[in-house]
Amino acid sequence: MSDVIKLENISKSFVNGAGQSLEVLKDVSLKVQQGETLSIMGPSGCGKSTLLNIIGTLDDFDEGALEITDQKVTSKNVDEYADLRLSTIGFVFQKHHLMPQLTALENVLLPTLKSKIPNAEKRANELFESVGLGDRKNHHPGQLSGGECQRVALCRALINSPKVLLADEPTGALDEESANQLTELLLKLNKDENLTLVTVTHSKELANRMSTIYELKNGVLDKK
Ligand SMILES: Nc1ncnc2c1ncn2[C@@H]1O[C@H](COP(=O)(O)OP(=O)(O)OP(=O)(O)O)[C@@H](O)[C@H]1O
Ligand SMILES: [Mg+2]
Repeated sequence: MSDVIKLENISKSFVNGAGQSLEVLKDVSLKVQQGETLSIMGPSGCGKSTLLNIIGTLDDFDEGALEITDQKVTSKNVDEYADLRLSTIGFVFQKHHLMPQLTALENVLLPTLKSKIPNAEKRANELFESVGLGDRKNHHPGQLSGGECQRVALCRALINSPKVLLADEPTGALDEESANQLTELLLKLNKDENLTLVTVTHSKELANRMSTIYELKNGVLDKK
């Protein structure tokens, strides 16, 4: 089986305000097959979101090689990968990034304007039902709680039936019961749609439901 995500010796540094270079990722390698589930844990500020952004072709890297579904990602111009992202990757950000002027349903349908998938509204309705927000579709983000916004963001990430879901703290704003429901939903999509799950989390409950747990520490990614 081929890998949907392949990182080889990825390194990434940021320059801080004082002009010093901070190496956030050091020679990180990772292979993920379609349908795998994994969790990336590690202390705040260790580079988890940075790693997820690189995998999602939203951020560039300094050294190493990245392939997503056998497509090489090399350019510093991440805009080139818009189509790859649209067709292959669903992203749940640590902050939900919903458009405040659109309703929940309009937010979820936004990625379908370009992908033009058939039956988009039907899938959106099913997703809203599955996250328990069937009656909140016409609310604006400002009229929804933080956890509800996060669930809407999950629907938006899943609307185009991506191969890979990259989820940054998807249960971070949720109570225990809602977090469990969301975890069950992710695992159901993994089973039904062979959705590959890459979750970044501080939650041991979520991490323990994934088949592999990685820890990112001092720039190094290790299997736990
Ligand atoms: N654009 C940037 N410019 C400079 N430094 C950055 C930038 N983005 C992130 N960093 C730094 O890189 C480090 C890793 O950040 P990142 O957001 O990846 O951490 P994280 O593991 O996701 O943390 P958390 O668990 O708090 O979300 C932090 O020290 C952060 O300050
Ligand atoms: Mg983060």
